[in-house]
Amino acid sequence: MTDVPALRERLVDVLRDDGGLTRDDVIQAFATVPRELFLADGFHLGEAGFLRPGDDGFLAAAYRNDALVTKFDDGRPVSSSSQPSLMALMIEALGVAPGMRVLEIGAGTGYNAALMAHIGAAVTSVDVQPDVAARAAAALDRAGVTGARVRVGDGYLGEPSGAPYDRVIVTVGITGVSPHWLAQLVPGGLMLAPVAHAGNNPVLRVWTRPAAGRAEPGWPATDEVWADGICGAGFMAAAGPLAARYPWAHPDPLRVPDGVTPSVQIPPRWKQPLDGLSYHDLWFAVGAWDRRTTSGPFDGGSGCVLADDTRAGGAAIRADGSVIAAGAHAAAFANDAGILLDRWLDAGRPGIERWRAPLVLAGDPAAPIYVPREWSLFA
Ligand SMILES: C[S@@+](CC[C@H](N)C(=O)[O-])C[C@H]1O[C@@H](n2cnc3c(N)ncnc32)[C@H](O)[C@@H]1O
Repeated sequence: MTDVPALRERLVDVLRDDGGLTRDDVIQAFATVPRELFLADGFHLGEAGFLRPGDDGFLAAAYRNDALVTKFDDGRPVSSSSQPSLMALMIEALGVAPGMRVLEIGAGTGYNAALMAHIGAAVTSVDVQPDVAARAAAALDRAGVTGARVRVGDGYLGEPSGAPYDRVIVTVGITGVSPHWLAQLVPGGLMLAPVAHAGNNPVLRVWTRPAAGRAEPGWPATDEVWADGICGAGFMAAAGPLAARYPWAHPDPLRVPDGVTPSVQIPPRWKQPLDGLSYHDLWFAVGAWDRRTTSGPFDGGSGCVLADDTRAGGAAIRADGSVIAAGAHAAAFANDAGILLDRWLDAGRPGIERWRAPLVLAGDPAAPIYVPREWSLFA
């Protein structure tokens, strides 16, 4: 199909029906901003391979509710246009409104910046890769967007020239939040960021409140920094200090060698497997309670695992509540996974949005980041 307005309408229908998109101005933005202009150098889409403008299926794929990888480095994706339903959810959750100043970290294609500019925000978008930033700026020009500008740099530093911002939106996976963003945010401003947790990058809402006299070493912090869960998500990892590891971080996602045979199996708990959203709720909770939690490959996909120290064994929790375990401590890991499953059920199957954590400074001492410390249920 090459009827672009119809493709856009169809995407909007999908976002409304499946993605929970409700706000008229956000719907208008998706119905108007030409995503294909932000994909002018082509993109990679699974089995379809690399599609360029003019290729069969380019336009139809550009308007699917999919993340589209636009740049690889050594076979690793390093830039993309995020999944539209996730962009819609983040823009709505952030309450982006006309007249607001918005800082975006991760310009990528520029499409998300264009959507927010269409709503009437003044967007400053930062990307660490000069060629990516240049292409985003050219695309914004091509699309006639005047409300968004692109800057090259490490997003860790934010962009002081546009501060203060009413909103900060981070569209790249980070392990913690830059103190510079908090310093560049107006009091009471909102920030959304996909912060690493248990092998995923769930989107968190980050907020501050006046501290009762606590100050972080090295920063004149007068506020406590907190995060609430918003939704499950996956994002490519950021470059630089935003991706620093810290001592109590979950293990990196596992690449379990092929052919690991489970030695312990616990049968399913539910006839009907959890749907994707509920499974991510369970996964988040397991990660909040157990620092060994990460993402690991099993059953032909990836899911929630407790990793042992060798990273080749541990326990995997399936969507039907069954557990498979392997390695020298398989029985103990399977038992722990069962206890965590019980705990989630006893807590009433809490969703991601019911979790809250204080953030503390960690990472590179020369460029620290605020990372979640201890998650607890708050609602
Ligand atoms: C998923 S893409 C962003 C999608 C984008 N918002 C869009 O609408 O197309 C992530 C981007 O983050 C950028 N990035 C990675 N690390 C960064 C950093 N430290 N500072 C700024 N940008 C970074 C990458 O170059 C990449 O282009």
